[in-house]
Amino acid sequence: MEQSKKEEMVRLAAVAARKAYAPYSKFPVGAVLRTAEGVLYSACNVENASYGLTICAERAAVFKAVSEGAQNFTHLALSVRGGGSPCGACRQVLREFSQDLEIILGDENGTIVREASLRELLPDSFGPESLDCC
Ligand code: THU
Repeated sequence: MEQSKKEEMVRLAAVAARKAYAPYSKFPVGAVLRTAEGVLYSACNVENASYGLTICAERAAVFKAVSEGAQNFTHLALSVRGGGSPCGACRQVLREFSQDLEIILGDENGTIVREASLRELLPDSFGPESLDCC
């Protein structure tokens, strides 16, 4: 994908992060998922007074997209303070739909910090095919 499209996705992730409901951590995160058809789904983290019920931005984006009928994801852009990468739970949920997902890590300003594939971030992973072994 062209650099300009990646920059646009990270910029949109930073916009999504502004909608974060993060009164406890004060750590807003924004995520934008792109399908092979070029459709974008954005989401933010949503926290809860019962802390463990918090949903990360990445998983919110996956659930939003899948609920709307999309499953063929090619790219994920993130806006995380300092340019951090997805938590383990989100990596596993993303992996359900693609090992080849390209992840564009951005900071709170919507600037690209680095890029990585999901395969790099979650090597030797467990996925749907793993259930076919026996
Ligand atoms: N968070 C995300 O949204 N994505 C991640 O990959 C890591 C953490 C959120 C959860 C919580 O609302 C806040 O960041 C601090 O952990």
